[in-house]
This record gives sequence, C-alpha cells and structure tokens, in this order.
Amino acid sequence: MPDVVLRGPGCRTRLADLVDELGLQRVVLVTGARMQAAGVALDIEGTLGRRHVGTTAATAAHAPVSAISAMATRVRGWRPDGIVSVGGGSVHDTAKALAILMAYEAAADSQALEILSGSTHAARQGGDAPLPVISLPTTFSAAEVVPGGATTDASGHKLLFGHSSLRIAAVFLDAELVASTPRAILVSSAMNAVHHCLESAYSLGRQPITMALAAHAFGCLTRALARFGDGVPPIDVLQEALDGSSLSGLAYVNSQLGIGHAVCHGLGGRFGIAHGTANAVMLHHSLQFNRLFAAEAAQILAQTAGLGSAGADPVDDIAQHLERLARTLGLPTRLRELSLPREALALLAQDAIADPQARWNPRPVIEHELLQWLQTAW
Ligand SMILES: [Fe+2]
Repeated sequence: MPDVVLRGPGCRTRLADLVDELGLQRVVLVTGARMQAAGVALDIEGTLGRRHVGTTAATAAHAPVSAISAMATRVRGWRPDGIVSVGGGSVHDTAKALAILMAYEAAADSQALEILSGSTHAARQGGDAPLPVISLPTTFSAAEVVPGGATTDASGHKLLFGHSSLRIAAVFLDAELVASTPRAILVSSAMNAVHHCLESAYSLGRQPITMALAAHAFGCLTRALARFGDGVPPIDVLQEALDGSSLSGLAYVNSQLGIGHAVCHGLGGRFGIAHGTANAVMLHHSLQFNRLFAAEAAQILAQTAGLGSAGADPVDDIAQHLERLARTLGLPTRLRELSLPREALALLAQDAIADPQARWNPRPVIEHELLQWLQTAW
C-alpha cells in the first residue's frame, strides 16, 4: 500500500513539497522515451528543481532485467536517496526493481534475478532497505500502487518480484499526466485494470476488502470507458478511470489474480504483446473460463456498474458488455488478432500453468482444458 495518495488534475505540482516532507534531497527520475518526447519528464524535472540528480529513460517494455541491472550500475554514481517514476506499467516496474537492486552491491543479471525474486535467502543477505519510490502514472496499469512487479529474463520469461521493505512513499493520480498518453495505449491499459477487478473479485485469495475495492474500481472504469468517445476524453473521465485503475491495483494486492493474467504474462514475456492489449483480448474469455466459480462476484460487479439485465446471467452480462466495449474502443478480442499462430497455444498454455498467478484461479487449471479454452479464445 502506498503511504500517501494524492489525486486530482494538477496534483503533481505538490511533488516537491512532498519530497521535502519525506526528507529526500537527491531523487532520480525514472521515465520512458515517450514521456521525454511529450515533455512530461521535463515538467517533472522542473517541479523537482534542486532535488533532482538525474533522469534515466532507459526503460523498456516488459522491464527486462538486463536493462534494469545496467540502469542500477549507472544510477549508483548519482547517489540518490529516492526514486520518482513517471510513466506506464513497465516504467514503474523498472523503478521498483531498481529501488531493490540499488540496495545491493552491483550484481550480474543472474544474481539480479535472484535478488529481485528473493528465490534464495542468501541473495538478499547484506542488503540495505530499498530506496523509497514516488509514482506518477501516465496510464491505467495500476503498477504505481503495487509493492512489486514483473520483469523478464533473457529468454522472455516473466518473473514476478517483490521485497518486504519496498516502500511506495507516495502516488500522484493526476489526470493531466494521463492526458499526454496516446489514446490507443490508454484504452488497452484500462482493459488491463478492468481485468484486475474481475480476477481479484473471484480469486482464491480474495478477502473482504477485495470485493469493496474491485467493485468500486469496476464501476469507475466501466463508467469512464463508456464516456471515452472517439477523441481525447474529457479530464474528469480520465480522472475517474485513473481512480478506478489505482483501486484495481489495491484490490489485487489483497487477493492476487488468476489464469487470465497468467496467460497475459506469457503473451508479454514470450511473444512481446503489450500487457494492455493482451488483457483486452483475454478479460472476457477469462470470465467465461471461470463462469461456474464467478457467479457471486459477477452479480456484485454487474450491480455496481448497472450492467445487469432482468433474468440474465450476470457473467454473460459482463462478458458481453466487455467484449462490445473492446470492439467499440477499437481493441482486439481474439488471440488470432494479435498475429499469434495457433501452434503457439500449447506453449502459451505451458507458460500460463507455470505462472504464479495461475494458482489463485478459482477453477482448477488442467492443461488440456486450458488449451481447449485458449483455442476458443483464438
Ligand atoms: Fe495487469
């Protein structure tokens, strides 16, 4: 959970005050090439003023560990005491992984993976506390609130990471930053957030707080997406979607996800498909896969979002609504639309079963049933 959440268009102007309140004097800005080109990075550097010691935009999609290791080597020389991350999901995942790696001596990529995943106790011995991270999202990935993330190894496997002392010191939910992001990225990342709502609501790890967060987030996101229109959405629509996406992240921190995200991790790590696009395709399919286990959650979500129709099954109501919504927003809804060859489905199924999120799926994941479902989604 973040220590502080500030929200509202323009709230980023309070960034410098907050950095001072936290006692930070040397912060590094982690961002991406798109944010630099759009002038967002310059805007944040100006806001930070003398507190800013350097900017790195060497982030890449799916946060490859080799890029983060190289970044840590470079950034150590700046002696930062905090990290500000501005961007989408891969930027925030990179910043959080950087915060963890910076707590340890420079390490080879293989050691960096061990440190990030905490796969061996020895890998984490002798480290300091990770640097505090302040996050400013420019998409609806929700990565800004999650105390961990995903990286990819050299062979394209997605690896989830976290650290018990990783601290998200503050989050700024500023719709004006989101407005700088191309619409195609925004609509797909919003579908990722919607998928967080679904999978957390019926996850085996769900808790009482999960449904409260997921339902509220689902309402915000579906209302906002219905008002997206064809051009640049109004600022209040972007703010509502941003509030919803951030809550969707808090929902799944308290529950974990399911098979839909396990497949999306394989689509990203192995086949290079953007996480938002993968989610746009998979979300209504993953609800259908779990339909016998998701009835209660679907009832609450449909009611909150006003999607129910008399006498109909809420699972169908939501699945049909989301598929229509994806089409309206110009997003793909079938795996074949991602240029994924049908022969790749067996490999995708194997990757998904091995993904840690699969174990939280309410319907038991059996390989031949999974493959059959992926063929339907293809
Ligand atoms: Fe996601």
